[in-house]
Amino acid sequence: MRFAYVNGRFCRHGDAAIHVEDRGFQFADAVYEVWSVRNGQLMDADGHFGRLARSLGELRIPEPRCRPALEHIIRELLRRNRVRDGLVYLQVSRGQARRDHAFPKKPITPTIVLTCKRLDFAAADARAATGIAVITVPDERWARCDIKTVNLLPNVLAKQMAVEAGAVEAWQVDADGFITEGSSTNAWIVTKAGTLLTRQADHGILHGITRARIIECAQRLGLDVVERAFTPEDALDAREAFLTSATSFVTPVVSIDNNVIANGEPGSLTSALREAYLGEA
Ligand code: PDD
Repeated sequence: MRFAYVNGRFCRHGDAAIHVEDRGFQFADAVYEVWSVRNGQLMDADGHFGRLARSLGELRIPEPRCRPALEHIIRELLRRNRVRDGLVYLQVSRGQARRDHAFPKKPITPTIVLTCKRLDFAAADARAATGIAVITVPDERWARCDIKTVNLLPNVLAKQMAVEAGAVEAWQVDADGFITEGSSTNAWIVTKAGTLLTRQADHGILHGITRARIIECAQRLGLDVVERAFTPEDALDAREAFLTSATSFVTPVVSIDNNVIANGEPGSLTSALREAYLGEA
């Protein structure tokens, strides 16, 4: 049986429910986090807890539980669901109130939901061995993509376009012609000169926790990393390309809009970074 955690109690996943007037449901007035779980341990726990606190602070939603309490709930959730390799999903909304756009005048209790599921990391490894295709789409999101909110409709539509095009991810392109990030991943290239490029952590992208870890890994490997935006043309001209996220780690990108990058195979720096990251995890 699968279990979820909703507002203070564990329940059967199939019975888990929130109120129809939850502000997360009505306004996407909610934030979320995703941790990978490997061998029963949360990966990059500090980074994800830190970003959760920041996202809540940006939306002025009170922290519903302190970190030790959350960790306790997560451990119990993983135990009950017998998940050792997979992911944990946490969502916190401002709470439930009569529908009105402004924040409720009286303080309300945030809604907290936690679920987890198993992931087949062998399938992810297989994908990393061949590399994946991405397409480019216009970035139609709001101006605060650095906050991890559940306001994900443009991301959903972008990913669906990728799927329908036979690709795995959509790299979003801003009004100036620069790639911001994927629909659920950060975007990277390795230039012909061997420099790693990933967009600067501004308001245009989610400050990926895996992205930050890969910058550290790359620096430890003595690689040159520059945080600046690049275009789809730069990506096509690159020696390697890849994407990062909590659940895909480092995944090579071998084509963009049906155009092959380099020789169409995963790059050696990409593979070295994936190994370094998973080796440290
Ligand atoms: N997605 N960019 C976006 C838009 C994302 O949604 C994510 C994460 C990332 C990568 O961030 P991190 O390395 O911290 O996972 C970048 C998660 C996995 C999701 O929505 O399921």
